[in-house]
Amino acid sequence: MKSMCPQAIVLPLAFFCTSLFADPASLQVPNESQRDHFVSMLLKKMTLDEKIGQLRLISVGPDTPKSTIKQMIEKGQVGAIFNTVTRPDIRVMQDQVMQLSRLKIPLFFAYDVVHGQRTIFPIPLGLAASWDTQAVATVGRISALEAAQDGLNMTWAPMVDVSHEPRWGRSSEGFGEDTYLTSIMGKTMVEAMQGKSPADRNSVMTSVKHFALYGAVEGGREYNSVDMSPQQMFQHYLPPYQTALQVGSGGVMVSLNSINGIPATANHWLLTDLLRHQWHFKGITVSDHGAIKELINHGVASDPADAVRVAIKAGIDMSMSDQYYSQYLPGLVKSGAVSEAEVDNAARHVLNVKYDMGLFRDAYSHLGPAGSDPQDTNAEDRLHRVQAREVAAQSLVLLKNWQQILPLKKQGTIALIGPLADSQRDIMGSWSAAGVAKQSVTLLQGMGEAVANKATLLYARGSNITDNPKVQAFLNLYEPALVVDKRSPQQLREEAIATAKKADIVVMAVGESQGMAHEASSRSDIRLPKAQRDLITAIKATGKPLVLVLMNGRALDITQQDQQAEGILETWFSGTEGGHAISDVLFGDVNPSGKLPVTFPRSVGQLPLYYNHLPTGRPYDFTHPNKYTSHYFDINNSPLYPFGFGLSYTTFSLSPITLSATGSSQGVTTASVTVTNRGKRAGGTIVQLYLHDPVASISRPVKELKAFQKVQLQPGESKKVRFTLSKQDLGFWNQQMKWGVEPGEFEVLIGTDSVHTETKSFNYP
Ligand code: BGC
Repeated sequence: MKSMCPQAIVLPLAFFCTSLFADPASLQVPNESQRDHFVSMLLKKMTLDEKIGQLRLISVGPDTPKSTIKQMIEKGQVGAIFNTVTRPDIRVMQDQVMQLSRLKIPLFFAYDVVHGQRTIFPIPLGLAASWDTQAVATVGRISALEAAQDGLNMTWAPMVDVSHEPRWGRSSEGFGEDTYLTSIMGKTMVEAMQGKSPADRNSVMTSVKHFALYGAVEGGREYNSVDMSPQQMFQHYLPPYQTALQVGSGGVMVSLNSINGIPATANHWLLTDLLRHQWHFKGITVSDHGAIKELINHGVASDPADAVRVAIKAGIDMSMSDQYYSQYLPGLVKSGAVSEAEVDNAARHVLNVKYDMGLFRDAYSHLGPAGSDPQDTNAEDRLHRVQAREVAAQSLVLLKNWQQILPLKKQGTIALIGPLADSQRDIMGSWSAAGVAKQSVTLLQGMGEAVANKATLLYARGSNITDNPKVQAFLNLYEPALVVDKRSPQQLREEAIATAKKADIVVMAVGESQGMAHEASSRSDIRLPKAQRDLITAIKATGKPLVLVLMNGRALDITQQDQQAEGILETWFSGTEGGHAISDVLFGDVNPSGKLPVTFPRSVGQLPLYYNHLPTGRPYDFTHPNKYTSHYFDINNSPLYPFGFGLSYTTFSLSPITLSATGSSQGVTTASVTVTNRGKRAGGTIVQLYLHDPVASISRPVKELKAFQKVQLQPGESKKVRFTLSKQDLGFWNQQMKWGVEPGEFEVLIGTDSVHTETKSFNYP
């Protein structure tokens, strides 16, 4: 589909329809033939062991201490390092390569720079909620700059795993449930982080992950299997990875799940037929942590050597954090089970990306001369606080605002209550790279500065994140991540009730700790933990007006709290400047414009619940309820808050849709609406275009997002928003897995969320 978004960052949908047979030229780097020549020459000089060494990616730690790494570097047994994040540490290892190794092939250095390096921005789910490609580009550029300034060459990001599963803890790391929004956000990140070239001083190479379909793990249970039809795969789950590669991501991290019975790490169809032969990818594939040995648990390899054979033959180039390739590849080549050409192929991909990183021109390109390292890695002046505050404010979503309880006035007495109100660690979210918790701004600090001497701000913690000792122990398994107040739940609650009673209005910061929305953090219950639900009920009983500030990394079931609170602001994990940004929105210095990138269900029992589902033969109609229709008899079919939803402190209206050139021979139509700000405040909103193909050879989703535009309007101002649909926007993968457009009627739906839309139909051709 082709969209008319003005920023020109919008993805032409034409891209999707041709995606499987993409023009290889689009993936080529300008000097590819020089690179191929250089790499071929280098490969000729390398011994088998040196080639295998290039395939090893290790993390410096207790298992592989610096002394061991030095010996490995000397023998050419390591290709790249991850999790080392300061210039002095990186420099030592690169020096060892240049001084001690035979061929002086530079290492590259990688890290999970997912939503910031030193400055932490909102988690990706929050970035998606901004629907603001300029804001996301800012995040990408600053993250890359800070990472490159730390000597890094590659990031394990962006994560573009589409997910319909809020039970999955890694929902926090992705861009939500929609293919198009995820594709746009992933593309923006890759372009921003890699810049003109990943070799540039302030750019890093990206490694899109987790290939593929990790977001669809059954039941949202981490590391579980995925079973999916080819149509669903190609229509909804694969486009974001392909988009990231199309714009040049140099790396791909392979997912831990199986796909239709075959683990991704062992999946020749995925890693070779699709990725290499059809998508013409020339960069590296990296296995995820320990994934090669897990092939034994998956039941597709009999022993470690067999796992290595299966992985390299499937198309895994680099093995992350295990010794399997180094241990078993020499023997496998000797026995003929793996050919040297297969090792060459993998080594070539590693050398290709090192070439593209500019490391053969200058192994120190991201390090600079010795002695130039920052005096203090965590120095305040290395942070980008202004941008972090601005982006975070754009990511907040106003879910409820009964009788305009928000924005708050900076007067009287305000009580701030809740276990997340003053947590510097939690507000940063998971995968917060080299961010330092003590540099982050909590809501207590942000609100305190905002009201200064204009109003009184009272604070009480009120409860722990959870009182469940098993969950507390789980969250503190590897590090003391969860601060537990030793006072009894009752003592904490009583203090909070007394605090609330003194105030005119209560703001409660509730939700999840960062560790609850992380890798290996699947939940079977997506409500707020009981300790916090009880606290909210107790505060509600004081009769004070109540605003909830949610901090969390997934769609939650907040059905009960929705009935209790007058105002609800979803803030995700908003990063280093989160406390300031949330205060900016609470007090109306910034008008919220974020929209949900995921559907909020009424209960976990409704899952999976997503807006672009297929129709059924017996749709439920709540105006004429009928027993034999598709619904649960104990709950409404609709979500609590739909995809694309978010309020503002002003209101917007949309005119009916105008379609131009309907049914023209080019098959192109332009859909226009006029958006008007009907309120008294300036504000922004996201105009969303959905498409529906009512009759086709296979059932098509009830609607699919195809374009969006962010508009800013002064009070009373109107703007015309135009979207151009191309023929490709209308297409889909049919039963024979052929992409095409079927003639007939199409419906265009435009709104400021996915439910309340203007509709107009046209015929194609
Ligand atoms: C995660 C990846 C991450 C890697 C390296 C793995 O456990 O699944 O997303 O990039 O660790 O930190």
